[in-house]
Amino acid sequence: MGNLIKESSYSIKKAVGYLKSGKVVALKSETVYGLACDPGNQNSIYKVYDLKKRPLYNPLIIHVNSIKMANKISQMNKLATEIAEYFWPGPLTLILPKKKNPFVNDLAVSGLETIAIRFPDSKVFLKIINKLNKPIAAPSANRSGYISSTNAYHVQDCFGKKIDLILNSGKSQLGLESTILDLSSKPYSIRRLGMISYELIKNKFGSAFKINDKLKFNEKPNSPGLLSKHYSPKTPLKLNVTKPKIGEAYLIFGNKFKNNFKPSLNLSRNENLLEAAKNLFDYLRKLDKLSMKRIAVSPIPNKGIGKTINERLYRASQNE
Ligand code: TXA
Ligand code: MG
Repeated sequence: MGNLIKESSYSIKKAVGYLKSGKVVALKSETVYGLACDPGNQNSIYKVYDLKKRPLYNPLIIHVNSIKMANKISQMNKLATEIAEYFWPGPLTLILPKKKNPFVNDLAVSGLETIAIRFPDSKVFLKIINKLNKPIAAPSANRSGYISSTNAYHVQDCFGKKIDLILNSGKSQLGLESTILDLSSKPYSIRRLGMISYELIKNKFGSAFKINDKLKFNEKPNSPGLLSKHYSPKTPLKLNVTKPKIGEAYLIFGNKFKNNFKPSLNLSRNENLLEAAKNLFDYLRKLDKLSMKRIAVSPIPNKGIGKTINERLYRASQNE
């Protein structure tokens, strides 16, 4: 209890009041939990950056409840509107030219001319945006660089009593962050892999897109939010391990590897990549808590959502 409260009409009302008065509230989205604040209120934006220990140059995603609301804060051309109509509400964030508007303070977008916008498929987010009738800023609810939160207890583990309210709405259904598609300059590019694949966007909307070169494995990304080390447990991570050693914790995918190894957790015994995505951050956190010498991870197929899982694991395994 304390600041962690189950979602109900009472707690939603409370969250709305808190957001109106500049407080910070953790909310479930279908991807991961977000640390929500009013993007028009400088003090509450500062609180979010401070809680996360996030550098001020790394902008926040702004969440809306409609394409109409997105239009008030960004310039959506025909393509952006078509893509939004197809994928929203859902796990896709669009980077668009920012429109001057009274809802989003420059601090929330790090003074950039562009803005990242998402219309989430999350009842609790949408109820709250509807009641506020204004967008909400919400980065993932974790310390900068650490593993994102996919349930309310993860958020509590990160921030304890420092956060005003954590609305417990259960587990995030998807478990990995949204795909970020940059439509603000050509060539259009994917800035972060996520739950919506590059192939799906490309098949549906033609070949005007490419995967940002900076996302290629083994290269250090250098744009603000793409610091190389990210999603990282405290315990060092080793990838593609088929024979774990004593002293390691084993994160397994499927049934080909040492399932009786102790300690171990299996992301998906029947090789379901969506199930693995949903479990990934929770299991990384659980194994991290064991403070073993290393977390060894079994190979994971690099197809579909497996590409996103592997990208997160690769970054988590980096030293800096
Ligand atoms: O699934 C998600 O996207 C979750 C849920 C809560 O919506 N949010 C999330 O936010 O992952 P965050 O702040 O952890 O990641 C947002 C990323 C950061 O890497 C940031 O650098 C990038 O979006 N970003 C935000 N605004 C941007 C902009 N104008 N240009 C380029 N990148 C931007
Ligand atoms: Mg994040």
